[in-house]
Amino acid sequence: MVDRPLVPITCTGLSKIHDNGVMALDPLDLTFEGGRTIALIGPSGCGKSTLLRLIAGLEQPTAGRVSLAGLAPAEQAARGAIAMAFQDPSLLPWLTLRRNIALARTLARQPADPRLVDELIGLVGLEGFHETRPAALSGGMRQRAAIARALATRPQVLLLDEPFGAVDELTRRQLARDLPPLWQPLGTTTLLVTHSVDEAVLLADRIVVLSPRPARVVADLPVDLPRPRPPEMTETPEFRRIAAQALQALAQGVADNPALAAQ
Ligand SMILES: Nc1ncnc2c1ncn2[C@@H]1O[C@H](COP(=O)(O)OP(=O)(O)OP(=O)(O)O)[C@@H](O)[C@H]1O
Ligand SMILES: [Mg+2]
Repeated sequence: MVDRPLVPITCTGLSKIHDNGVMALDPLDLTFEGGRTIALIGPSGCGKSTLLRLIAGLEQPTAGRVSLAGLAPAEQAARGAIAMAFQDPSLLPWLTLRRNIALARTLARQPADPRLVDELIGLVGLEGFHETRPAALSGGMRQRAAIARALATRPQVLLLDEPFGAVDELTRRQLARDLPPLWQPLGTTTLLVTHSVDEAVLLADRIVVLSPRPARVVADLPVDLPRPRPPEMTETPEFRRIAAQALQALAQGVADNPALAAQ
């Protein structure tokens, strides 16, 4: 365990109305424990990316606040404590894979660590592509590069927004097994947005199920399965029980939504 404080995340009365009048978040109260991995699942367009962007300090709330261990997102971001891998990975096209990942440490004012960069490239399955530029990588490879880049700063807060969307199923399951051991010993508070219920159960300590827009919490499920969680675990009755609960909550959230039920 790295000797540094855990960073819990508290959202209080958080609401966001976008410039076009769309209310992405109704006042939302949520606490994410420091050092844990929490999966957020919910229907497309319910406000998951908006929530992550508010926590990252990339957008400002219309009302309410986000606190990361008592500091505002912008303050934690300025300390280099937050790393993100978002739906569309934005790698710099003129830099090689190795330099894209190494750059994250420079931007966070951390000393260069070529061994860590090489190790991460191998762990996300991109061995041999160190000197390749992003244009010559597939979409799924770019997503894996973005995850390696996010981990390169050994962040205290890691925000993953559908990081495996373009990755094939087999590789996803390998990443679900191989990646958590990279951030868990660091006490990293990890929020993972995913559309895959199985991925949520494989990776998370807790699953928060959100309703259609504006997002509200429909279920908050602990995932008390042992780690490591190999791909075969998805077939066990305990795993399937939690996955079924999450799916049922998703369906319930849609059924309870008056706007959608009226359609
Ligand atoms: N910059 C923006 N300007 C205006 N509206 C926005 C903006 N970003 C998001 N929205 C709207 O806010 C709502 C929530 O969007 P958000 O991207 O947070 O959803 P999501 O849950 O991440 O969806 P998905 O699962 O499809 O990624 C949507 O109705 C979307 O159209
Ligand atoms: Mg999204």
